[in-house]
This record gives sequence, structure tokens and C-alpha cells, in this order.
Amino acid sequence: MNEIYDAAREMKEAVTDEDRLEFEQRRDVVADATALAETLWLLNRVITAADTSIVVTDPNLPDNPIIYHNPAFEHVSGYTASEIDRHNCRFLQGPGTDPEAVAEMRAAVSEGRSCDVTMLNYRKDGTPFWNHLAISPVRDGNGKLTHFVGVQNDVTQQREAEQERDTLLAQQRRIADTLQRALLLDSPSTFHGLEINTQYEPALDEAQFGGDFFDVFALGEDLVALVVGDCTGKGLDAAQHTAEVKFALRVLLREHSNPLPALARLNGFHLESQRLDGRDPNALVCVLLAIVNTRSGLVTLTSAGMEPPLVIREDGDVEEVPVLGMMIGVDAEAEFTETQLLLEPGDVLLMVTDGITEARSPGRRLFGYDGLIGAVREAATLDSVAAMGRKVVASAKEFAGGKPQDDICLLAARRPRR
Ligand SMILES: Cc1cc2nc3c(=O)[nH]c(=O)nc-3n(C[C@H](O)[C@H](O)[C@H](O)COP(=O)(O)O)c2cc1C
Repeated sequence: MNEIYDAAREMKEAVTDEDRLEFEQRRDVVADATALAETLWLLNRVITAADTSIVVTDPNLPDNPIIYHNPAFEHVSGYTASEIDRHNCRFLQGPGTDPEAVAEMRAAVSEGRSCDVTMLNYRKDGTPFWNHLAISPVRDGNGKLTHFVGVQNDVTQQREAEQERDTLLAQQRRIADTLQRALLLDSPSTFHGLEINTQYEPALDEAQFGGDFFDVFALGEDLVALVVGDCTGKGLDAAQHTAEVKFALRVLLREHSNPLPALARLNGFHLESQRLDGRDPNALVCVLLAIVNTRSGLVTLTSAGMEPPLVIREDGDVEEVPVLGMMIGVDAEAEFTETQLLLEPGDVLLMVTDGITEARSPGRRLFGYDGLIGAVREAATLDSVAAMGRKVVASAKEFAGGKPQDDICLLAARRPRR
């Protein structure tokens, strides 16, 4: 028995520290390899189960063929594994594939960089689909390009929804444009003896119609209504609202020939249509009305939230007309006030929307009412009302770096000179 113990002791002593170290190293290598195999197995399961299609190509083989693809790629493309592997991905292209997208991929592959394109591809049965493809290079530890990985997403539904939305937007823009032109028909250059000029500059906001408007119409033999207004909002809603306000005002002024009750009725009408027709409860209207007696020169003015108008006297003097009032759509009980002035022969009445006074320089400075007065003073030296109107608008536009942020609307009217 003792012999057996002795032999075991001898064997134990024969295992050196070196042997133990080697054994431990081997055990670690096996553990690392097992962990790696588990990770790879997991990755393979994830890629195989993914809905997103993935391909790997080898740029070191002729024509950069596919060397791996997941089942989602077969599902999206309709091709079988043997039709996919060892082929270049271009077999998905067809007559509708954008050559620019192909050129971008070709450049990315030859420069070994990533790229991102959306293009029309075709399934095996010929049906087209929009493919959003992201290609990325794969490099080894020395930075050598070994593979490309491509991730494809079928974005057909999204693309069709975008196209539908764009078509709808273009359609709405066309309607808004038509409405705008119908609303802003050039006024005559003389009307019941008054020399008239109107200017309208839409904001450079994707040519969306804003809510500025003007109107010139007769209320009687010697009475002319001049209107400048601004409805909040943009696009089709603003256009529709503007049309409503503009034509409602015509009716209301013809009924009353007096701006005060007309504005009060317009305020009520506006608030009612917000309530009854479920209109935007935040929609507001600013409007400035001037009723000119063309024979006597007496002008009656009422304002709802508009910039005070200016008078350019025959001798070039510029006067502010103090008329203010609350915007339409704020308060059902709003009361408006009127101001009267005498327009002498040769004098010009000038009405603008806040697109001029709120014009901002590229450095964000405000043109302001002072800027307007300055521009009008410069314009006062010009002979025709048209030249004056153009000059004032040009000054505000120039101040805004050529890009007014809001619509600009101006109406100028001169009593004939003696
Ligand atoms: C990883 C990878 C994935 C690609 N996947 C697509 C694809 O899904 N659809 C496609 O039309 N082109 C795909 N391409 C692009 C084409 O294989 C090819 O690079 C492109 O057509 C430009 O080269 P060519 O002018 O030689 O055809 C892929 C390219 C790479 C590298």
C-alpha cells in the first residue's frame, strides 16, 4: 500500500510549474474559442432572423461578387441562393434605376468608402421596389479592405406615401396660387379719379400663399373703399380665409358705407365661423379700411391691428395717421374707432401690411415703422404713385437682403393734382 502512495507522490512532484501554466493557457484558449463560437452563432442567428436584408461582397474577387446573403435578401429579391451568391448585386437593377445612384455606388466601391442611396430595383418576377441601400467597407486589422457589407431596406410604401403627399402639396399649391391671383388682381391705375398703386410680394417661403390682400372698390358715386389686410396663416387655409374676409368686407361696406359697423360685423362673422365651422380658433385678421370721398378729399379710416397709414403731402411732407384698433378674432366685444383726415389734391395715402415694418436684415435688425417712414420720405420725391410704391417695397426688400420673411403688401392712392 505504501508503495502506491509513494508512486502517487512521485507523479505529483513530476508535474512542473511550467506544465501547470501551459495547461491553464490551453484552458483559456478553449474558453475564448467557445465564447467566440457562441457569439458567432448568436450573430448568425440574428442576421438570419433579421427582416432587413444583408449581403457581404468580396472586392478582392473579380466583379465584387456576393459571398454571403441572409434569407431576408432572398425574400426581398425573390431570387434563390444559387442565383444570388457569386454574382454582383447589379442584377437587381433595371430600366427605372437611377444612373446617378449607380454611379454613386460605383464611385464608393472603387474608393473603398461607404455610401447611402435609394433607388428603384426589381425583384425576380419583375416587380419594382424602392431599395434604400447602405454600403460600408470592412477592413482587417491592417486597414486592408476585405469586404463590403450592404444593408437593404424596402422603402416602397414610405416612398409612395411621400409621392402622394408631394402630389397633394403641389395640387394645393396650384389652387392657392390660382386663388392668390384671383384675389390680388391688379387694381386699375386710376379709379374714380384716384391714382392707385398696389404692390404685393409673397414671402420667399416655397411660394406658399400668405394671407395679405388689398382691395379697391366703389361704395357710391364719390366714395371709394381702400382696403389692406393680413390673415394669419399660410397656404390653402390662409387663401380661403383671405377670400372670405375680402368678399365679406365688400358686402359689409356696401351695406353700411361706414367702416365702423362693417369692421364690427366682420369681427362677429369671423368669430362665428370659427365656432360654427370649426375653424382654427387662433386665426386672426388685421385690416385697415379707408373710405375716400373723392370729391371733398375727406378720408375716414378704421384699423384692426394694422400699421398706421401715412400721408405724403404734395410738398413731400410725410405724416403718420394715428389710427389703431384691435385685431379681428380676439374679442367679440371689440370696439373700433375711426379717424378722419383731409387728403388735399396731390396728396398720397399709403397703407402697408406688417411684412414691410417687420422685415429683418440678415443681421436680424428690424426695419420697423421708422424704416418705413424713412423709405416713404425717400419715395416722396418721386413723381408717380407707382414709382413711390415700388420704391418703398424695394427699400424693405433690400433691407431684408432680398428675402422678405413675410408677405409685403402696399396700397397707395393719390387725389388728382389741381
Ligand atoms: C455590399 C454591396 C451591396 C450592393 N447592393 C446593391 C443592391 O441592393 N442593389 C443594387 O442595385 N446595387 C447594389 N450594389 C451595387 C452594385 O453591386 C454595383 O456596385 C453598382 O451597380 C455599380 O457598379 P457597376 O457600374 O459596375 O454596375 C451593391 C454593392 C455592394 C458593394
